[in-house]
Amino acid sequence: MRRPVVMGNWKLNGSKTMVTELLTGLNEELEGVTGVDVAVAPPALYVDLAERLIEAGGNKIILGAQNTDLHNSGAYTGDMSAEMLKDFGATHIIIGHSERREYHNESDEFVAQKFAFLKKNGLKPVFCIGESEAQNEAGETETVCARQIDAVINAHGVEALNDAIIAYEPIWAIGTGKAATADDAQRIHASIRAHIAKKDAAVAEQVIIQYGGSVKPENAASYFAQPDIDGALVGGASLDAKSFAAIAKAAAEAK
Ligand code: PGA
Repeated sequence: MRRPVVMGNWKLNGSKTMVTELLTGLNEELEGVTGVDVAVAPPALYVDLAERLIEAGGNKIILGAQNTDLHNSGAYTGDMSAEMLKDFGATHIIIGHSERREYHNESDEFVAQKFAFLKKNGLKPVFCIGESEAQNEAGETETVCARQIDAVINAHGVEALNDAIIAYEPIWAIGTGKAATADDAQRIHASIRAHIAKKDAAVAEQVIIQYGGSVKPENAASYFAQPDIDGALVGGASLDAKSFAAIAKAAAEAK
């Protein structure tokens, strides 16, 4: 049985006021909600404040972050280490998001290095994969996802996926309101799991595969009803406490 994980990716959004209101609201909304892991990934500058607010709310929310660099200390101006994230209680770290792949030229191999770096430091990678609209239209979705996953498997072995999270996020669905249908998402999730199972069935069985891309309270339940969709990575709708909590509750009820 895989316990669903619903994670909010706040991207480049936030202020002290906004973080305080959002987490205070979430602390209230998630009172008594069980059967789902709820995580948030604030911008790095607000991880400290988020840790304190989550603690004040009784630690119902898991703290995450949106990136890591590849070193824990040293002469790397502007970088942010896994050790530092750990120091503030962050555990679930997003890597390979399409926005970083695109705007920061992060390659499959570089993302695989980040994956290994997080594992080495005892942190959980939330490893994003997904195809572009052109790749989708060309029928290349499964191939693209397999290639992105193989970058990790080939470099670090399939066991690296133990206790990790994969987020399948079709790029054309991110922030567009054009979500994948639940059936299409299920088909791709099943193919991702089957691809991993070719290497190791037990690893494939336990790995959490989230769907991401325009998840909203209105469509969330349809995803969570699918056998291979184990939660969601949520952008826009995670910036509103009620919307994000509604998505988390839908996951708790469906699984
Ligand atoms: P969205 O973003 O929910 O706003 O589509 C998802 C993501 O990029 O993780």
